[in-house]
Amino acid sequence: MKESLLPPVIAIDGPSASGKGSVAERVAKHFGFHYLDSGAIYRLLAFAAYQQQVAWSDEHALAQIAANLDIRFEHGEAYLSGEQVSSEIRSEQMGKGASEVAVHPEVRTALLQAQRNFRKAPGLVGDGRDIGSVIFPDAGLKVFLTAGVETRAKRRYDQLISRGEAADYALILADLQQRDLRDSQRAAAPLKQLPDAILLDTTDKNIEQAVNIIIEAFKKAGQNA
Ligand code: DC
Repeated sequence: MKESLLPPVIAIDGPSASGKGSVAERVAKHFGFHYLDSGAIYRLLAFAAYQQQVAWSDEHALAQIAANLDIRFEHGEAYLSGEQVSSEIRSEQMGKGASEVAVHPEVRTALLQAQRNFRKAPGLVGDGRDIGSVIFPDAGLKVFLTAGVETRAKRRYDQLISRGEAADYALILADLQQRDLRDSQRAAAPLKQLPDAILLDTTDKNIEQAVNIIIEAFKKAGQNA
């Protein structure tokens, strides 16, 4: 771990539906660390814009909403202006909206400090696309968590079915491919595997195995500090 007076950070970046959220939350629980779901912040912004009838393409208006966003996370639930909106922001529509609002550099700048404020003692596990590259480049451990796009589509499909929601595998797959492309090809903070990140491909791994690999890697990084 790099020497720092700031609380340690574990950065877990990767594509949509790679299981980052479940893995990051469990790693955070293991170490008693705070947890930042940065995708939820972009989803909250997409939802706030939708409510205010601001287009996801309107960079300047979105940045203004972003600068005044009243968000809170409590017991795994997301709140926008005091209202619990967890299921609204988890929809496929808001996932797409989040990916669209996230391409704008002004928006990303407006949300930067809000994300950095999550770094508190005793430590933080953050997941997203640019946690290790932009938000916390000094993170003690960086992980690039991924899985084949078909595996991710199947997981998302199973998740929707288990919630009793309608799901179409071909549509989910096409949507994920489009989102992967948008998130990795954009000019501002694109998703990419950093040279100092460990690659964790979960195509043939379950959540518990992925969690254990990260826990061990973080302990090892601490010993090498
Ligand atoms: O992780 P997620 O699927 O909830 O994220 C939704 C979208 O938000 C994702 O497609 C791109 C954007 N995002 C981002 O640009 N940077 C982050 N750190 C997290 C999410």
